[in-house]
Amino acid sequence: MAEEKITLSVIKADVGSYVGHVAVHPDLMEKARESLATARKEGLLVDYHVTRCGDDLELIMTHRRGEDDKDIHGLAWDTFLKCTALAKGLKLYGAGQDLLSDAFSGNVKGMGPGVAEMEFIERKSEPVIVFMADKTAPGAWNLPLYKIFADPFNTVGLVIDPSMHDGFDFVVLDTLKNTEITLHCPEEIYSLLIFLGTQGRYMVRRIYRRKDGEVAASASTQRLSLIAGKYVGKDDPVLIVRSQAGFPAVGEVLEAFCFPTLAEGWMRGSHYGPLMPVKFAQANPSRFDGPPRVIAAGFQLNDGKFVGPMDLFDDPSFDEARRKANEAADYLRRHGPFEPHRLPLEEMEYTTMPILMERLKDRFKPLEE
Ligand code: F6R
Ligand code: MG
Ligand code: MG
Repeated sequence: MAEEKITLSVIKADVGSYVGHVAVHPDLMEKARESLATARKEGLLVDYHVTRCGDDLELIMTHRRGEDDKDIHGLAWDTFLKCTALAKGLKLYGAGQDLLSDAFSGNVKGMGPGVAEMEFIERKSEPVIVFMADKTAPGAWNLPLYKIFADPFNTVGLVIDPSMHDGFDFVVLDTLKNTEITLHCPEEIYSLLIFLGTQGRYMVRRIYRRKDGEVAASASTQRLSLIAGKYVGKDDPVLIVRSQAGFPAVGEVLEAFCFPTLAEGWMRGSHYGPLMPVKFAQANPSRFDGPPRVIAAGFQLNDGKFVGPMDLFDDPSFDEARRKANEAADYLRRHGPFEPHRLPLEEMEYTTMPILMERLKDRFKPLEE
């Protein structure tokens, strides 16, 4: 068993929420648990944990079938369909909003749900952290991931732990061109930062330890707005990070969230807002539909079974980050519909501009020379 690979799959979707876009109804979570319990009993899953962040239903699963597996993705899809039916019955808000296709074709990528997966041989002890965020986008992970895996002022292990001293490789996706590039850190951090600093376009997909190529992190990089060709839902992201013994310590991983980075999302997916680290029970983004939230579920794997989760942001040492996030939220909100609180035109998920330009076009007068 020890040498057999385990796959950790986190698949999420917003299939209807209450009230408005704030939370997943407990009945939907129960339905999802029921569905995954059956799959575990039948041997498809080794284990599962169902949770939510804001209006996103999160299926955290382990199995022995590798990434992009048709049956695992099919299970997630079916589970979301069952939950959608329930959401419709309760007349919840936006029932089925992230399920963009009626016919499942083998892989949920590109269909709406967000996916982060990684396959590895479980170590003697395997601490993993699953981050889940709402009212934001995958670019929100850029700054924290840089700090965790490339910044020695955050992660002292890069300096003083021989097993991490060779650094990490970042695989970065260009969502516009649909290409990816691998950058080697530390020597390419200046190049890396020009990409990661452009959070609306470039996003970290994966991170590998350079010493031995072991996978260290995997993020969901689906962009729903692009998939659908128009805005139909948020691409609220998930992220898996392996920790300890040659990877950043749990405390080094979490330290990166003490600074509430400004991320795209918030009201109508059209604003910058601070990414606030909260305990599970506080993942209810209700102020101006936000500000963006992140929760951290820590697990120990035991032959693929979950020991946990531990609610890792349920710690007063994150109070200051939450306070700073509220302060930043107040400051940004004072800008109302002005940039840089409001996103630039091309990044907004709602806009009246094309209609207005059409309606007002005759009122634009050329300037006299
Ligand atoms: C949804 C979100 C919300 C909605 C907003 C308007 O994830 O970010 O801010 O965009 O509540 O929603 P509609 O257009 O459904 O009334
Ligand atoms: Mg919603
Ligand atoms: Mg959401």
